[in-house]
Amino acid sequence: MKALVLAGGSGSRLRPLSNFMPKQLIPVANKPVLEYVLENIRELGITRIGLVVGGWADTIRGAVGDGSRFGAEITYLRQERPAGLAHAVRLARPFLGDDDFAMFLGDNLLPDGVAPVAADFLRGRPAAQVVVHKVDDPRDFGVVELDAAGGVRRLVEKPSRPRSDLALVGTYFFTSAVHRAVDAIRPSPRGELEITDAIQWLLEDGASVGCSEYGGYWKDTGRADDLLEANRRVLEGESGGVAGSVDAASALLGRVRIAPGARVVRSRITGPAIIGPGALVEDSLIGPHTAVGAGCRLRAVDLADAIVLEGTALAELPRTRGALYSPEAVLTASRAPAAAGGTAGTGGSATAATKAARA
Ligand code: DAU
Repeated sequence: MKALVLAGGSGSRLRPLSNFMPKQLIPVANKPVLEYVLENIRELGITRIGLVVGGWADTIRGAVGDGSRFGAEITYLRQERPAGLAHAVRLARPFLGDDDFAMFLGDNLLPDGVAPVAADFLRGRPAAQVVVHKVDDPRDFGVVELDAAGGVRRLVEKPSRPRSDLALVGTYFFTSAVHRAVDAIRPSPRGELEITDAIQWLLEDGASVGCSEYGGYWKDTGRADDLLEANRRVLEGESGGVAGSVDAASALLGRVRIAPGARVVRSRITGPAIIGPGALVEDSLIGPHTAVGAGCRLRAVDLADAIVLEGTALAELPRTRGALYSPEAVLTASRAPAAAGGTAGTGGSATAATKAARA
């Protein structure tokens, strides 16, 4: 079996951050979302991976390399424009041949892995195996309707009036039967070749489509709020440990990881939190639920529920909760951590913080 990972697309819901980097490389607990995906694939024992990339091809290639770091062999497949998930399957045909394959969306985080889903696919080897998860508001997702016996009756992409609460998770398993379907479908109203429509085509053609309800944690990291929620969730599993240096005027509370070469000076860090390799934190209050990337320089800041990307410098920030900082941009959360719904904001604090970062 091979794997196909989709890491093209535009990341429009994560602007302005996605103007400076591909969304699949935004880190959750200091690890890019795409790396979690590659680990999911390796856990299935798959080593031949096709990676679909768009305009950020060089950046992604620079970060991921040839796959040897993950024990895999990566073939890069260039998609000139984000013409849809089924379009990506079409262009990957020469790489996929007639092999079965697992398809992963490069912005979907599944830290608990997908081994049970792979087992479901291998048991019956249907033309397609989809994965669903109950969500409060499925309108942003593909939606699956099941019949009384639990079989897939219908799939609809981002319906305005969903007929079930089962959202499609961004992991799919296919046999080569899918290639006829992706060749047969036409673009959707939003102008994309939808994989949801290709699977619906398979159903109508009489092919078998399996469905697994996912039992683990799943997050489509398409918005700032989603990334921050995923960061909180993954950091909850952090065990802590100090490899860098912490001066006598500092305090670490709870599960805090200080990576090699990181320095904490006159600061208080509340776990779960990670301070990445070579970062400097001085005169600051950090955490809980905060991941500071490698080489960051933080002075006199008060941050909680935050993601600070590698190489970011921040100075003299008053208490801030719920934001992503990069050297070039800041995204603020649109809602308090406990609430549901809403969209990512790129609000007023962005300018102030970016200026502070450059100070
Ligand atoms: O997250 C799950 C949802 O993902 C599913 O419920 C939907 O059925 C599915 O269509 C998809 O919806 P999104 O609108 O979230 O897809 P997005 O445009 O964010 O693309 C998902 C990934 O695929 C992302 O890493 C970008 C990449 N991509 C996307 C397109 C449209 C490509 O590589 N090429 C493309 O042409």
